[in-house]
Amino acid sequence: MKYITLILLITLLSNSNAQQFNIIPKPTEVSYGKGNFILDKNIVVLNDGEVIIKELREFLSLKFNTRITISTMGKHKGKNHITNDLDYQNDSTEGYKIIIKPKEIKLVGSKKSLKYAYQTLLQIIEQYTDGKIPCATITDQPRFAYRGMHLDVGRHFQPISFIKKYIDYLARYKYNTFHWHLTEDQGWRIEIKKYPKLTSVGGFRNGTINGRYPGTGNTNEKYGGFYTQNEIKEIVQYAVDRNITVIPEIELPGHSSAAIAAYPELSCFPTEPTKIPNEHVSTASKNNTGKLVQETWGVFEDVFCPTDYTFNFLQDVLDEVMQLFPSKYIHIGGDECPKESWKRSAFCQQFIKDNNLKDEHGLQSYFIQRIEKYLNGKGRNIIGWDEILEGGLAPNATVMSWRGEAGGIEAAKQNHTVIMTPGSHCYFDHSQSRDEDSVTIGGYTTVEKVYSYNPVPAVLNAAQAKYVLGAQGNVWTEYMSNPRKIEYQIFPRMIALAEVLWSDTVGRKWEEFEPRLVREMDILTKNGTVVSRAYYKPTVEIIKVDTLGAVALYFNSKLKCEYCSIYVTQEIDSFRIRCGTTTMQIPEKEKDPIGQYHVFKDTLVYRCDTSNIIYRSNRYATPPQVLVNETSTIRYKQAYHHSFDQEYKINFSFNKATAQKITLAKPPSNRYAGNGGAFGLVNGVKSEKGINSTEWLGFGEGQDCEATIDLGNTQEINKTNVHVIDQQGSWIYAPSQVDVYTSNDGINFNLLNNTSKIIDEKLLMKNIENSFEKISCRFVRIHVKNFGDIPSGKQGAGHKAWLFVDEIGVE
Ligand code: ACM
Repeated sequence: MKYITLILLITLLSNSNAQQFNIIPKPTEVSYGKGNFILDKNIVVLNDGEVIIKELREFLSLKFNTRITISTMGKHKGKNHITNDLDYQNDSTEGYKIIIKPKEIKLVGSKKSLKYAYQTLLQIIEQYTDGKIPCATITDQPRFAYRGMHLDVGRHFQPISFIKKYIDYLARYKYNTFHWHLTEDQGWRIEIKKYPKLTSVGGFRNGTINGRYPGTGNTNEKYGGFYTQNEIKEIVQYAVDRNITVIPEIELPGHSSAAIAAYPELSCFPTEPTKIPNEHVSTASKNNTGKLVQETWGVFEDVFCPTDYTFNFLQDVLDEVMQLFPSKYIHIGGDECPKESWKRSAFCQQFIKDNNLKDEHGLQSYFIQRIEKYLNGKGRNIIGWDEILEGGLAPNATVMSWRGEAGGIEAAKQNHTVIMTPGSHCYFDHSQSRDEDSVTIGGYTTVEKVYSYNPVPAVLNAAQAKYVLGAQGNVWTEYMSNPRKIEYQIFPRMIALAEVLWSDTVGRKWEEFEPRLVREMDILTKNGTVVSRAYYKPTVEIIKVDTLGAVALYFNSKLKCEYCSIYVTQEIDSFRIRCGTTTMQIPEKEKDPIGQYHVFKDTLVYRCDTSNIIYRSNRYATPPQVLVNETSTIRYKQAYHHSFDQEYKINFSFNKATAQKITLAKPPSNRYAGNGGAFGLVNGVKSEKGINSTEWLGFGEGQDCEATIDLGNTQEINKTNVHVIDQQGSWIYAPSQVDVYTSNDGINFNLLNNTSKIIDEKLLMKNIENSFEKISCRFVRIHVKNFGDIPSGKQGAGHKAWLFVDEIGVE
C-alpha cells in the first residue's frame, strides 16, 4: 500500500510533459535544447568561492545520500558538473541565466542573482526525480523591484525558528523583502537597550480575548515574548544570505498601547487608565488603574503625544533600530491613529496653534515629517501606510497602499514611490473559502483573485506607473496564534503573489499557472507545510428540478487525477440520482452486481455501496445530479490519493415552499445575487456560515424583499419563516416587519392578520416567524421590509440599511 502511494506521488510530481519546467515564479524565457543532463551521485560541483556552492553541495549530498565532490573551477575531469559564472552582467542585478547542456549546468549571474538561479535550479532538480534534466537555457529577471511579505508578530509572537522558515519560503519564491511588523498595541517585540521596559512590560499582556472580536471571554493567560538584539542580528543575516532585506516597522503615532504601557509619559494623559473596549478583559486587568498592553483587537485612542519626551524616545528607539537593520527603508506605520486624545489634549491644541497646523490631521502629518527628517538625516527613507497622505505627504516618503489602491494612485501622481498592498488582493488574513471553519478576520480572497492582481493601476500613465515599486502580502495575526495557522493562511496565496511580482504579464495566465501551483502545493504538503485546501473544495450547485418537488445537486471538483473522487452520502434509505432524463433509486443492487453503474451510455459511472456514490470527476463530462426531496443531510468528501479531505455537509429542511416556484418583485443587488437567484430562497438550505456564503440574497440600501411562492396546489398553511442576517457593523439589519399575503389565483392577494416574531434574538442569523389562523391557499406572498435608516451612532449612520435573506419557509 505504501509502495503504491509512493508510485502515485512520484507519478503526480513527475512532469507529464517532460520538456516543460514547472518553475514558480515563471521565468522570463526558456528555450529548450536537444538532449538531457544526467544528474546523479557522480555530479561534481565547481567551487568559485560563492556561498551557494556550499548550499548546492548540501542539497545534493542529502538527495543522493553521499558526499558530493567539490572541485576547483575548471577541474571536472569530463564529469557532469554544475558551475557558476559571475561575469554575466544584466541590466538588473536581479537577472540571471541557467544554461543546461548534456555535461554541464552553468548558473550565470551577479553575486546577488546567482541565489535566484540556485532557487530555480532546486525546483528543476525536484521536478526531474529521475535526474534526466532537459537541456535548455533559462533567462530570467523580475518585473518589480519590491517583492514583499509582511508578518505581524505584535498580535501573536512567533519563534525565531519560524521566522527563519518564513524567510526560507520567501527565498523559494524570489521575494526580496521581509516587512517585520515589530510593535503593536498588543505587544512590543524588539529589545531596545535604552528602554528595557518596552519588552519587560510592553512585551506581555495579561490575557487575550477568546474567538472572533468582540470575543466570548478571555484566556486569562499572560502572553508575550520579544526578540533580543542578538536574535534580530541573526535574522537579518539569515535573510541577507537569502537575498532578502528585512524592513522593520516601528508603529507611530498610533497602535502604540504597548509602548505607552511601558512608558506612560508617551501618552497625552499619562495618569489615565487604559480604556478597555469591551467586557472580555482578563481578571488581572479588570480593576487596573494604570496603562495596559491591549488584550483585544482594533484601534485604540491612547496614542503617542507629540512632546519632546516622545520625539526623543522615538529617536533613541530608531537609533537602535538602524543599528540592527541596514535596510534603506524604515517603516514607521502611520495607520489608524485616532485623533480623540489629541483633540481633548490642551498640549496638542496649543502645539497645533504654535506650529501653524490646520488640525489633528496636520499634526499627524507633522509627526510623520519630523520622524522622516530624522531618518533622512541618517541616510534612511521612510515607508508609511497610506494614512500618511493625510494632511500632506512627507517629502521623501514611500506610501504603502492598503485601503484599496486610491492612496497608492494619489502618491504616484504626487511622484512618490508606492508599494501596493490593497486588502482586496493582498491581505492574507482573509478567508480563502466561503465557509471557513477556523476563525479569520473576515473577507474572502481566493488564490485565483491574488493571481489576477496587477499592482500597476490602469489609471496611472506610463510615467506615474514607474513609481509603483511592487506589492506585498500582509499577514496580520489577530487570528493566527501559531506557525501552522500562518502557513494555512499564506499558502497557497503567497505562491500566486510571487508570480504576480516576478513574472512578465505577457503569456501569463491562470490556466497555465494552475498545474504548476497544484504541483507546488503537493511539494509543500509532502514537506510538512500546512497548505489550505480551500482551492480544492468541491463546489455544489443546488438547482430546481421541474415536476419532482425536489432540488438537484451538482458536485464538481478541481481534483483531476485517476484516483480522486467525491463520496456523497445521504442520510436516508433511498438515494436518488438523475442523469439526463433517467432517474433511479440507489441502491438497486440487482442492476449492479459488481457495484458499478453505467448510466446514459458512457457519460458517467457510479460505483455504489449501500449509501455512497463514487463519482469519478475526471472521466465524465456530464456530472450526475443527486436528487433531494425530503429533510435530510447530504455529506460529501473528496478522496485524494487514498486519503480523505475534510467532510462537508449540507442540511436540507423541506417545507411546503421548498423547491417550489418563486418570483421576486424586484431582484436583489447584483453584488449579492446568490448562486441560484430567487430559487436560493426556497432551495431547502439555510446558511450556517454567515455573510460569505452564496446562499444570501442582499437587497441594497433601503430595498425590500417581496417574494411570491406558488405552492403547486391548494394547501393549508399557518406559519411562515424568513431567515435573515443581522450584522449591523456591516450595515446589515434584520427587517422592520414581515407581512404575509395569500391568494388562490396568483392575482388577488389578501394581507393576513399576523404578527412577526424574531427567533434567535441574540444571534447573527435570525428567523422571523409569522403565525396565523390556518388558511387554504395556493400562492403565498412574503413582504420582508427593509429596516430603513441606520440610526445615528451606528456604523453607516445616515445611509439606508441592507437586507439579507437566504431562505423562506411555509408550513
Ligand atoms: C493596516 O492594515 N492597518 C495597515
